[in-house]
Amino acid sequence: MTVSSHPRQKPRQLSPAHDWWRQASVYQIYPRSFHDSNGDGLGDLPGITAKVPYLRKLGIDAVWLSPFYPSALADGGYDVDDYRNVDPRLGTLADFDEMTAALHEAGIKLIVDIVPNHSSDRHEWFREALASPAGSPARDRYIFRDGLGPDGSEPPSDWQSIFGGSAWERITEPDGTPGQWYLHLFAKEQPDFNWDNQEVREDFLTTLRFWADRGVDGFRVDVAHGLTKHLPETLPAEIEMPGMASEHGQHLFWDRDEVHDIYAQWRQVFNEYDPPRMAVAEAWVHPSRRARYASPEGLGQAFNFDLLTADFDAADFRSSITRNLAEADATGASSTWVFSNHDVVRHPTRYGLSAAPVPEAAAETETGTPMAGGAHDGKAWLLAGAPEHELDRDLGLARAKAATLLMLALPGSAYLYQGEELGLHEVTDIPDGQRQDPAFFRNPGVDIGRDGCRVPLPWDADHTAFGFSETGAHLPQPQWFSKVAAELQERNPRSTLNLYRKALWLRQILQGPEELQWIEEDDPQVLHFARPQGWHSVTNFGDKPVPLPAGLVLLSSGVLPQDGTLRPATTVWMTR
Ligand code: GLC
Repeated sequence: MTVSSHPRQKPRQLSPAHDWWRQASVYQIYPRSFHDSNGDGLGDLPGITAKVPYLRKLGIDAVWLSPFYPSALADGGYDVDDYRNVDPRLGTLADFDEMTAALHEAGIKLIVDIVPNHSSDRHEWFREALASPAGSPARDRYIFRDGLGPDGSEPPSDWQSIFGGSAWERITEPDGTPGQWYLHLFAKEQPDFNWDNQEVREDFLTTLRFWADRGVDGFRVDVAHGLTKHLPETLPAEIEMPGMASEHGQHLFWDRDEVHDIYAQWRQVFNEYDPPRMAVAEAWVHPSRRARYASPEGLGQAFNFDLLTADFDAADFRSSITRNLAEADATGASSTWVFSNHDVVRHPTRYGLSAAPVPEAAAETETGTPMAGGAHDGKAWLLAGAPEHELDRDLGLARAKAATLLMLALPGSAYLYQGEELGLHEVTDIPDGQRQDPAFFRNPGVDIGRDGCRVPLPWDADHTAFGFSETGAHLPQPQWFSKVAAELQERNPRSTLNLYRKALWLRQILQGPEELQWIEEDDPQVLHFARPQGWHSVTNFGDKPVPLPAGLVLLSSGVLPQDGTLRPATTVWMTR
């Protein structure tokens, strides 16, 4: 056995009040699917307040709340009508304040989602732009262009939107004639802002202060690598553009260097507060370019989706962990880890499907650029081409629990997605007629979209809508939810819920400095590392039992036999 270290290069003086986010366990709530308090079938903010005791008992440090703003739900709330309000179906600003106070009272911080790349087409600015003439200041807040061809009836370029189909949509001018086109990198209901426009910049500063003044502790920045665009007079064809995750910042709209001027300004706003507000960037960029988003002069932290996109494989896990810890070290940020979120197939299902062949159509789309929305990286296409019998649910869940326990032992922040603490699999059989995700509608037959991970949670097996609501759920819940409801798992000491609870509480106690030491085992399928407090995590990625290293077992993701071995797809935490 040999040891290789990853100690931090420069130990920092950390302050618990300022640096709470560095090693936080953050639980993402997708509010419309969490808990419905008023029986309209849609989760809401009072529903979250009612579940604060559950969240407290889970042992998380913070909640990341996906968009709760007024929205037509063309993209699950990421199409925002009004950045400084609450969707009336989800509650009021007073409900927001009550929820924030209840979370804070329980010792839980609150991170809200900010969507700056685009608004919804119902935003008052966009409606004003439609009602105003070409070239007007109102149009300048978005990206309008004349069409090509003699009558301007062809889009300004052949660019494709992330959700499929053209990235340009033609409008009707106020006088009723067919008119200009606007850019939407996502759904057509999500027009892209023009970040060269000062009013846009100022307005987002106002929005950040609005929520920071209300007591939010941080922001998750949606599509943080978008925003600034450089569109020359003659637009190049899609095929002429460099890859979206290019290493050089040469792309016309993704990951341009100028975007960091915006975040430097945002940082000044965050630092007006005591403690400073934190932020985490959703930036699907080349790994070499992630550091700037995470720098202390910028947003301070950035998601890395490396473990999320890796297979359940010891070598892949080890190399992404090593790379990300080194990266965090270089920037002064802390690492982030995540397996599931509202954009990807839940990780028990991904791991249960990993042997399935890649369907041809999906393989083709996969060779393109990584999808900013993430659905492709989350292997939604696997499901489109993989009938249910190819899914090994038990193996998938065992691997997912092992992976999660490993993640929760790593230095840095762990981001969890609602329902993963119940071991939920993806819901794979939503009828087409009940799907909501634009990624499904715009990629027929290729991508089933992201609804399968957004199905309302099962709280109580014996109640209507499994306790989610007194009436029903806005996405259909499967029968198997009756076996995994939270209330049943509460009573079973060996449930996934109780595993998460124990792990999250132990993590709070055992977290020390952000350091990790690899312990080399003979078997390459075993990943073993130690944290400074004498806390070890050992995972068997292989398909045969391996000898369990000596020590006292604190927690195990699966059954631990008496014969001193560690079963396949199992992680143990130990002290020595
Ligand atoms: C982000 C969100 C995703 C959304 C997209 C457009 O990637 O996570 O859900 O569809 O941005 O806002």
